[in-house]
Amino acid sequence: MSEFPAADELLSIAVPVAREAAATARRMRAEAITDVETKSTRTDVVTAADRAVERQVVEALRAARPADGVLGEEYGEAALLPAPGPTDGAENPGPTGAKGVRWILDPIDGTVNYLYGIPAYAVSLAAEVDGVVVAGVVINAATGDEWTATRGGGAWRAGRRLRCSAQTDLAQVLLGTGFGYDAKRRAHQGAVIAQLITRVRDIRRIGAASLDLCSVGEGVLDAYFEKGLNPWDHAAGGLVATEAGAIVRGLDGAPPSLEMVVAAPPALFGPLESALVELDASGGA
Ligand code: IPD
Ligand code: CA
Repeated sequence: MSEFPAADELLSIAVPVAREAAATARRMRAEAITDVETKSTRTDVVTAADRAVERQVVEALRAARPADGVLGEEYGEAALLPAPGPTDGAENPGPTGAKGVRWILDPIDGTVNYLYGIPAYAVSLAAEVDGVVVAGVVINAATGDEWTATRGGGAWRAGRRLRCSAQTDLAQVLLGTGFGYDAKRRAHQGAVIAQLITRVRDIRRIGAASLDLCSVGEGVLDAYFEKGLNPWDHAAGGLVATEAGAIVRGLDGAPPSLEMVVAAPPALFGPLESALVELDASGGA
């Protein structure tokens, strides 16, 4: 028997924590959006709610499983709270690939939507064991919609097992994507989209990578790609899409990374990947 809990046990910890987090995000938005600051560029925003939700989730995870690592978007590798004291023998594992359980959190994915009131912003929480994502939950905080997955246990929404799209023709694909916050990166991403838009049914830019990936899992989008995603953007949603039958990878067999994340049904992955390679979608800034 593994020394680590089963994926469904980790999911059963994650789901109530993520629901509470989504409730906090929703409540804070209803009260007032405060402390709006910028991060990497003038368009990359963070609010008091992003930070408060992250702190709340880390505290809840620390209470449930004090020895686990946590990687969150706003505070990094569990830097926001003192490590558990020596009496409980806890130690935080290091970066991806480390041994043990590590939680990966985006407290609010889709912060610009949150700022404007577009109902597509989500809490995204995944659990990794020895560097492999085994459980994930994504909750759209605006609507309460909830997607879950465990490795080998399928992807689910509201008691329904999810299957990705059966589309096989790239020309018929509804394709999701996203853009980074850096102008130079966007210029390249825009050029790639300008080429792709004539080869697919249409393009969608929802504004929250975790929801894009869950949409692929649900067949609401046929496929999705984006350059520049961090682990907290794709860990939970990527597992949902994978468990719904999609392939979630980088280009040329690489794992999903900052370079590129592509999520597509098996029959579409090859044609989409070829187009993305041809257009140098992982290139540019
Ligand atoms: C962003 C969203 C967006 C994607 C960006 C992400 P954030 O996350 O997921 O859709 O295009 O690449 O950074 O900043 O809202 O948490
Ligand atoms: Ca975020």
